[in-house]
This record gives sequence, structure tokens and C-alpha cells, in this order.
Amino acid sequence: MQIIHEIAVLRAQVADWRRAGLRVGLVPTMGNLHAAHLALVRDAMTRCDRVVVSVFVNPLQFGPDEDLQSYPRTPEHDIDLLIQVGNHCLFAPSEQEIYPHGRLGQTFIEVPVLSDLLCGASRPGHFRGIATVVAKLFNIVMPDLALFGEKDYQQLMVIRRMTADLNLPVEIVGHPIVREPDGLAMSSRNGYLTPDERITAPLLHDHLRRLAEAIRAGQLIADAEWDTARALSAAGFKPDYVSVCRRADLNHPKPGDRSLIVLAAAYLGKARLIDNLIIDLGD
Ligand code: PAJ
Repeated sequence: MQIIHEIAVLRAQVADWRRAGLRVGLVPTMGNLHAAHLALVRDAMTRCDRVVVSVFVNPLQFGPDEDLQSYPRTPEHDIDLLIQVGNHCLFAPSEQEIYPHGRLGQTFIEVPVLSDLLCGASRPGHFRGIATVVAKLFNIVMPDLALFGEKDYQQLMVIRRMTADLNLPVEIVGHPIVREPDGLAMSSRNGYLTPDERITAPLLHDHLRRLAEAIRAGQLIADAEWDTARALSAAGFKPDYVSVCRRADLNHPKPGDRSLIVLAAAYLGKARLIDNLIIDLGD
């Protein structure tokens, strides 16, 4: 596997691939890779001739009181895993390479409305940081296709909108949530959980499944959201939001909407966990 740290070197490599008529895929990550990241890489490898995995802990998407300093960085482990899955290229730039004018001097990309809902409401600037770094990665790599996980459903929506609004010629592919056997969505932040919290953590997914069943059975959405938040609090979580939305635009459902999604974020100890579940009410 090639390991590249500089933009110019990466561009030259991708240009060679393009001249050879190869289709190029990108999987952006912040490293500390786990099985869900690797599922995205394998998926990209089935769709493309060459795959670039980027590893960059993007400071612009962390708030001032968030875990930028403590976010797990495991470069050797990441390289081993990427070699095992047969990935072609790792792009691991420095902060100076990505933000040569500093964090405050960087031109940014703002996706309105979508960025202010849900996670955006409690993490101001988070999606601006994501849209900015992903647009930069698209311009650096110029992939035909890029893969993102549906675990970060709002992130996926923001990136789809940014790509469409800026007419970027990149196909955006969503990959289904990859879970531990007990239902917990895989995440680098699961490493913050104590052994006791790790036992409690899958209840987030369990409660979302119950909420989906209650809504299919006809319970009012606001009541189901409230019951779920209360159940999570009783189990030891500090819920940030539990919200049933229209899947297409994350707005509040209107009567007759059939294609819904429930999204939730909750703290469990130091870890901020997010999860979601599609609710299809059929015709
Ligand atoms: P990171 O949290 O490292 O995730 C990288 C990619 O893996 C994202 O597309 C994320 O949605 C996906 N992913 C993580 N856990 C997953 C799971 N359990 N199931 C499915 N997909 C999962 O998301 C980011 O990094 C950053 O915000 C980034 C897009 C790289 C921009 O900095």
C-alpha cells in the first residue's frame, strides 16, 4: 500500500491512474480504524479500481470543549488494517498541509439549514468543518466516487447537499450502519466507554427499535420521542436529542409522510454516541 502525506504527490498518483483509465474511490476517515471503516473500504474496492483512504483528524469539526486532543490516533494499527484489506493508497496529510493558513484563516463551506438541526444544534460549526474538509479532500483526490457511513446520517445528508450545490462531479455512496453483535453501532468513540457503560451502550439501539415499533403501531411521534428519551435517561444516558424526521430532508414529518428515520444522540459517561434507524411505514 502506498502511504502519501503530501497533496502534490497524491495528485500525481491519481493523475497516473486516470491516464490509465482507472476509476478512483475515496473513503475519508479520522483514523483509529475499526471494522465499520474497513467495510466502507471493501465496498469502495468493489466499485472502483483504486481506493484512497484518507486519515485526518479534522480540527475544524471539533468544538472548543470537545475531544480533539484526546481523539484516538493509532497510525500503525490503521496501516496494518488497511494493508490486510488490500487497500491501494493511504493519504495521511499533516494539519499544515490541509490548513496552511491556520484554522481561522481557512475559507469554509457552509451548508445552511441542514447543518443547524440535530447534532448541528448542540455542535455549532461541526458540519461547517466537515463540509469544508470533505470539499477539500474531493478537490485534492478528485475521486469518481466517495463512501460515507449511514451511522452519521446527518453528515451524509450535508455532504450530498454540498456536493450537489457545488456541482462537484463525485458520486456519493452511503454504506449501511455496521454494528457490534449486541447492536451497538461501531465508533471510534466507543473506546471512551468504561466496561459498565459498554454493557449499557447497546440500549440506545434497543430503544430506537422500540420507538420504531411504537410508531408503526400508531403512537404519536412526540410521545414516542419523549418515552424514548425518558427510557434512555433512566438507563444512565444523557440524551441530547431523540428525533423522528422525514428521511428525505430531516424536517419534521407531516401527516402522510411514510419514509421516516429516527435519529438520536446521547452521552454515556464521556462518550457521545449517535445512532439512527429507518422507519418505513409502507404505502
Ligand atoms: P470517522 O468518524 O472516522 O468515520 C469515517 C467514515 O466511517 C464516515 O463516513 C462514517 O460515517 C463511517 N462510519 C463510522 N462508523 C460507522 C458504522 N458503525 N457504520 C457505518 N459507517 C461508519 O466521519 C468522519 O470520520 C469525519 O467526519 C469525516 C467524514 C472523515 C470528515 O472529517
